[in-house]
Amino acid sequence: MALQRVGSPSSVMFNLKSPRYEYIKILITVQMEKFNYLYMLVRKVNEPIRVVITGAAGQIAYSLLYHLGKGDVFGENQPMYLHLLDIPPMMGVLDGVVMEIVDCALPLVLGVVPTTDLSVAFTNADAAFLLGSMPRKQGMERRDLLSANCKIFREQGEAINKYAKKEIKVLVVGNPANTNAFVCAKYAPSIPKENFTAMTRLDQNRALTVQNRGGAVIAARKMSSAMSAAKAAADHMKDVWHGTKPGTFVSMAVISDGSYGVPKDLVFSFPVAITNRKWTIVKGLKIDDFSQEKLNLTTSELEDEKKAALDVCAD
Ligand SMILES: NC(=O)c1ccc[n+]([C@@H]2O[C@H](COP(=O)([O-])OP(=O)(O)OC[C@H]3O[C@@H](n4cnc5c(N)ncnc54)[C@H](O)[C@@H]3O)[C@@H](O)[C@H]2O)c1
Repeated sequence: MALQRVGSPSSVMFNLKSPRYEYIKILITVQMEKFNYLYMLVRKVNEPIRVVITGAAGQIAYSLLYHLGKGDVFGENQPMYLHLLDIPPMMGVLDGVVMEIVDCALPLVLGVVPTTDLSVAFTNADAAFLLGSMPRKQGMERRDLLSANCKIFREQGEAINKYAKKEIKVLVVGNPANTNAFVCAKYAPSIPKENFTAMTRLDQNRALTVQNRGGAVIAARKMSSAMSAAKAAADHMKDVWHGTKPGTFVSMAVISDGSYGVPKDLVFSFPVAITNRKWTIVKGLKIDDFSQEKLNLTTSELEDEKKAALDVCAD
């Protein structure tokens, strides 16, 4: 069943091949919007926000979207428009995802905008989950991988710079997440660099359960972690949006201010506390020799990756 998207960023309608089915689907969509509108009038709710998800036809997005629509991230009184970006070959799959979101009848979801167009995706965006990136293919050189991702995150940074709200909060999940976040922020100079963070929360959540879990999940599922990665992305953005509890901190890759000897301007995972949607690095935690060694190793790997990315971005 081929679906074709029509309409503006504030709505999604289905133009199906069969006119009768088209009529029914439009009727359902209109009823859903009416229901959502009435629901919002009855409840005391905030102004709607626009949330971008890139890689929206992928595995992590499939789980993340339900967390968003249920209010797990931005709160139960926060209605939203979901802007779903993916690449042209994935639009058929994305149509299926949109149908499922509609069928979930989630009152907080006022509209869904599936698109391949960066300007449509990022216009007036309040928050963005950047999940889509170029995966490493067999025989692919590191430089080619970095170059492909540099292009993606440069273009997205430029679009965020041009179209999004200046206070947008951007979470980069697509790997290599730290370097992709660095590139994205670099090409969005009108947005504070602090508004870009990268996800290391899955490692934090795993540390609370079982170690070396990533490989075990792939071995068992024949696919990488998706449900747990989506939950980690939801936890991360929830903390950015609502803050951390007093006296607690979380793991988040943010732009370094030189703390713990990590060079300035490297996107690195730190313990952070968040209030009023602003993070601060928690200083003075004791680091044993083993952890210091790992920290040094990661610093040098990320510095190399950043340099290589800057090189290919300049090409
Ligand atoms: N930071 C972390 O801790 C962490 C944890 C798990 C997964 N990841 C990473 O998250 C990413 C997504 O994982 P997944 O399992 O959902 O992958 P997936 O392959 O299922 O989905 C990725 C989606 O991104 C899309 N995409 C590719 N290029 C795009 C572009 N330029 N614009 C928009 N969309 C684009 C693809 O078409 C695909 O639909 C991967 O890079 C993965 O390595 C990171």
